[in-house]
Formats: sequence, structure tokens, C-alpha cells
Amino acid sequence: MNEKTVKRKKIGIIGVGNIGASILRGLLAADSGRLDEKILIRDIKMEKLRSFESNAESRVVVCESNGEVAEKSDVIILAVKPNDVRGVVGEIAPFINGGKILVSVAAGVPTRAIESDLGEGKKVIRVMPNIGALVGESVTAMCTGTYAGEEDEAIAKEILGEIGEIYSVKESDIDIITGLSGSGIAFFAAVIEAMAEGGVYEGLPHNLSLEISAKTALGAAKMVLAGDEPSSIKQMTASPGGTTIRGLYAMDARGVKTAIMDAVIEATKRAREISSKAQ
Ligand SMILES: NC(=O)c1ccc[n+]([C@@H]2O[C@H](COP(=O)([O-])OP(=O)(O)OC[C@H]3O[C@@H](n4cnc5c(N)ncnc54)[C@H](OP(=O)(O)O)[C@@H]3O)[C@@H](O)[C@H]2O)c1
Repeated sequence: MNEKTVKRKKIGIIGVGNIGASILRGLLAADSGRLDEKILIRDIKMEKLRSFESNAESRVVVCESNGEVAEKSDVIILAVKPNDVRGVVGEIAPFINGGKILVSVAAGVPTRAIESDLGEGKKVIRVMPNIGALVGESVTAMCTGTYAGEEDEAIAKEILGEIGEIYSVKESDIDIITGLSGSGIAFFAAVIEAMAEGGVYEGLPHNLSLEISAKTALGAAKMVLAGDEPSSIKQMTASPGGTTIRGLYAMDARGVKTAIMDAVIEATKRAREISSKAQ
């Protein structure tokens, strides 16, 4: 995609909460020169927006209504809670013409539900980022609705590529990725916390234990991404009669693997429940 493609696109964000703010911060921090248009934002909580407006050297414009964001933007990122999506879509529908792209980050709201509220022919892209966006490490799954084409997807990828890595997937996989990654980053946080508390239990200071736990997780993740299977990391670490096999035995005895699999399975089920209600 030509560098100028996104440069010319005006980006709007409706809902500047956890994920909307992390996308906004990511875009402002990217400073790649491609996103030099002002970013239009709107949230019910105006005081939150004023701080962005004053802290970001005026690269952010606070709009007076969701309709104004939709009217003035080419790409509208909708980052409100799933229950609020259809209300906001109804509000902005009159301002979404055929050329604009609506990017929804809402868990469990299918593109066809948004399309039916927006009207035929409107371009919708659904994404599932995670809060790693705050540090430029979101894993973002993306799929297109009925009317968004390859060029629209490329534009959305270029924008959300500023907050991490993008995976194009089938829409039917988005609920699973919501469990695995959208929610899953919290599961890893829980594991890192539990490991650190094990260290504290045995006498390490909290901060040292937490940092070592997080960096150990990072090392494991990097090894897996470099091609090592988790089973081979276990094998390389667990010497006969040693400390690792004793720890792995304790994990298996307490059903840790099943519990973690269940966390992903239950989160996916919940995403599907929300999806079925949104249709
Ligand atoms: N948090 C995550 O890790 C994560 C990850 C992936 C996807 N998502 C998805 O991202 C969406 C937002 O989640 P979140 O955690 O960022 O929620 P959040 O922190 O509650 O942010 C949503 C923001 O939108 C505001 N809002 C509500 N109704 C609005 C309206 N009509 N017009 C403008 N703004 C409105 C909310 O204000 P009030 O608080 O006053 O209602 C809030 O500030 C959800 O659909 C979620 O499924 C979240």
C-alpha cells in the first residue's frame, strides 16, 4: 500500500475507554509520518477526551457528537461496549456513505448485524485487538464484512498495524481469538502473577519476582515464536530427578493445563453467546 493511502485518510475513534484509548495512544506514538491527519475522537466522558486534546499537541480533535466523528472521518473505529454498538451505529448511520469504512472492535458483534443497521453496501471491518496495544504489542484478528474489499482491509491493516500485529481470519474464528487473545492476555497476566507470588512465597521481593516472572514468560514466548515447540522447551529444561520435572508434576497434578484450556474455551463460549444475542 502506498504510504499516502493512510496519510489522506481521516481517522475517527468513537469510545475512548480501555481499548479505544490504547489504539489512540498507539496511533499518536507511532509517529511514522503516515498518520499526519488529526484524529477525531468522541466519548460520553468528555473530561477524558480533553486530556488527550491538550496532551497530544493538538493532533487530536474532540468532536461534539458521534455523528460529527462519522461525518468528518474516512475510517471510523468503533470502540464502545458490545451493548452500546447498535445504538451508536444507528446514530452514525446517516453520516456513513459508501466510501467510508467502519471498523468495529466490539467482541461478539457480527459484521452482518452492523451492516443491517448501517444499510446495504456499507463497508464494515471487524477486528479483535488486545490491550497489548498499549505497548504496541496487540495481536489483532481482522475480517471483512460483505461490502469491504481488499483495499479497505489494507487501509485498516495499515492503521491497526501501528498497535501490533494483524492476522486476517474468517469471521467464524473471531470468537475463538477473542477467548485466546482478546481475553487471553489477561490469562497470561494471571499466570505471570501466580508465578511471581510463588517466588514471593519462597522469599523473593515482590518487584523482583514479578519482573523475573514476566521476563521468563517473554523468553518462553520468543523461543516458541523462533520455532521451538513448547514440549521441547519442557524437555530441554527438565533433567531427570531435577527441579523442573518436580514443578511440571505439581502443575499436572493440579490440572493447570485443563484449567487454562477451559479459560479459553469458556471465554470463547461467552463471545459466542454475545454474538448470538447481537444477531
Ligand atoms: N478491553 C479490552 O481488552 C478489549 C479487547 C478487545 C476488544 N474489546 C472491545 O472493545 C470495546 C470497548 O471495550 P473497552 O474495554 O475499551 O470498554 P470501555 O473501557 O468501557 O470503553 C468504552 C467507552 O465508550 C464510551 N461510550 C459508551 N457509550 C458511548 C456512546 N454512545 N458514544 C460514545 N462513547 C460511548 C464509554 O463510556 P462509559 O464508560 O461512560 O459507558 C467508555 O468510555 C468492547 O466492545 C470490547 O468488546 C475490548
